[in-house]
Amino acid sequence: MQLIINGKKHTYDGDPEMPLLWYVRDLQGLTGTKFGCGAGLCGACTVHVDGAAMRACQLPMAALADQSVTTIEGLSAEGDHPVQRAWRQLDVAQCGYCQSGQIMQAAALLAETPNPTDADIDAAMAGNICRCGTYARIRAAIKAATSAVNA
Ligand code: FES
Ligand code: FES
Repeated sequence: MQLIINGKKHTYDGDPEMPLLWYVRDLQGLTGTKFGCGAGLCGACTVHVDGAAMRACQLPMAALADQSVTTIEGLSAEGDHPVQRAWRQLDVAQCGYCQSGQIMQAAALLAETPNPTDADIDAAMAGNICRCGTYARIRAAIKAATSAVNA
């Protein structure tokens, strides 16, 4: 099967049940996507599949034939996606472990809903857990990125 990761074509003929998270981290060295729970419950492994935020720990490789995957490494060439800029501006991260997943989830939200309400933000971000409790800064950064996207 073939799939695209961060704009590059990949051919895969391994175990069809292997989770995408293993493929990007262990076989491709794209370690920005994190392993948290391995059970679809924390959001640390969030990537985009054809633009939608998905949990890479729950996606078997077989489900990704001819799909386009974006990891945090591919979100922008220079780390300057509006969400990434807002994250830096507001110094969102604490330990950082959950943050690539948070950023990917937020970027998918803004791509689909450029002017999210508080309820939209709550609904989109509810599955992304931060043990450091950076939720207030995450929300503020999403709002800052919203202004930048719509400026
Ligand atoms: S590691 Fe995938 S949701 Fe937690
Ligand atoms: S910044 Fe530490 S888990 Fe979110």
